Amino acid sequence: MDALDLLLTRESALKLAAPGPSQADLDAMFQSAVRAPDHGRLRPWHFVVIDTDRRAAFGELMAQSLRRRMPDAEDEMLDRERAKAMRAPTIVVTAAKVNKSAKISAFEQIASAAAATQTLLLAANAKGFGAMWKTGDAAYDPDVKVALGLAADDEILGFLYVGTDVGGTSPIPRPEAAKYVSVWQG
Ligand SMILES: Cc1cc2nc3c(=O)[nH]c(=O)nc-3n(C[C@H](O)[C@H](O)[C@H](O)COP(=O)(O)O)c2cc1C
Repeated sequence: MDALDLLLTRESALKLAAPGPSQADLDAMFQSAVRAPDHGRLRPWHFVVIDTDRRAAFGELMAQSLRRRMPDAEDEMLDRERAKAMRAPTIVVTAAKVNKSAKISAFEQIASAAAATQTLLLAANAKGFGAMWKTGDAAYDPDVKVALGLAADDEILGFLYVGTDVGGTSPIPRPEAAKYVSVWQG
């Protein structure tokens, strides 16, 4: 697909199924992501792949996180958390490892990780997969970060769900870009 067509038609997937990306697909996605603009060459990004066979364990992590936040959470709510992990064959956690002693601000390092995250979404689309970017409270839970092999003070940018798009097209109306653009008259 032409690059601009990809950008002009990008949308989150609604429903994903197997097959997910192969190792070669993931390699291409990550190689694209590390082209994200990066002030100071700090390489602040980190990506954690959750393969199909680790999804149940990830779902359990999400459920435990909810239980810590809401000790009275009903079983149904906990099951809903567990089920989120089953939304796609592959999940990629994107994170920023902010170098706090660097001259470049944390804001700019996190912005670079957000750019890398968007690149991953687009590269997944370019490889023919659907993708969705989710967070939720678990993304801000230090225990979840540590369980995923991150540091407690790393920032999780997103849980990217990637797989074969089987869900139709988004009902979201797309805004007119001109509303969000001004031309400085100074
Ligand atoms: C940082 C970030 C976190 C998000 N977290 C969620 C989320 O937890 N749940 C959700 O439904 N959408 C979340 N979204 C929004 C979706 O990724 C998506 O953009 C939205 O549903 C609109 O669909 P579209 O991508 O087709 O425009 C998040 C987006 C961003 C940038």
